[in-house]
Amino acid sequence: MRVIIKPDYQSVSSWAAHYIADRIKRFAPTPNHPFVLGLPTGSTPLGVYNELIKMNQQKQISFADVITFNMDEYVGLPADHPQSYHRFMFENFFNHIDIKKQNIHILNGMAQDVEKECANYEKSILTCGGIELFLGGIGEDGHIAFNEPFSSLNSRTRVQVLTSDTIRVNSRFFDNDISQVPSTAMTVGVGTIMDAREVLILATGAKKAKAVYHGIEGAISHKWTISALQNHERGIIVCDDAAASQLEPETIKYFKDIER
Ligand code: PGA
Repeated sequence: MRVIIKPDYQSVSSWAAHYIADRIKRFAPTPNHPFVLGLPTGSTPLGVYNELIKMNQQKQISFADVITFNMDEYVGLPADHPQSYHRFMFENFFNHIDIKKQNIHILNGMAQDVEKECANYEKSILTCGGIELFLGGIGEDGHIAFNEPFSSLNSRTRVQVLTSDTIRVNSRFFDNDISQVPSTAMTVGVGTIMDAREVLILATGAKKAKAVYHGIEGAISHKWTISALQNHERGIIVCDDAAASQLEPETIKYFKDIER
């Protein structure tokens, strides 16, 4: 695992955006050989999206031959609902870059048959050749996508019941009213994320410090689904000093030393 420790949110966002842009450029995608990118929602990736939008507008990077798969979507929210992850992605990223609409994949929260929707999502990922790079965030309880504690580390795309803690944390987007937050979501599984050829996880702020500690220094455990990253050949956590604050000083010294 690589762990990149930066002083603050801005430098985490900038590092991750440049890393993603470089990976896409080196891949040299074409219509027949597209770059497949997994994407998250949440507050943390907003800085990365803003940087990538800037780079796209300055013609430093193109998304014309990039295919995206989002991590998750609330069950029961239509695509045009202000808090749907569809709306989030279009407003905060897709509307501002040169991506082709047909290359965007997001689970349909209104699907009649949610199990079929999830199974088809897995099939679409495979049809596109698998995910090259999965960008993700991390929950305070260590969840990646909506893989709450005790999700199988081999889990695939499925419906997940959200914990009260996640509903409480996410209620900030729903007028702080927990009754408005859907209680279930469709999410890619831990196994789906780990199948990506590379996984890049962002973690900023002291609230994420415990999850970062368990992800890096804890045992691999379904209690902290982020810890599955320890078994990935190309896993990277990019965090700020605050999110790294519960790591042992030797751990911080080690990662800063090899990344100097
Ligand atoms: P956040 O969410 O970026 O809004 O903190 C991350 C997550 O819950 O995965």
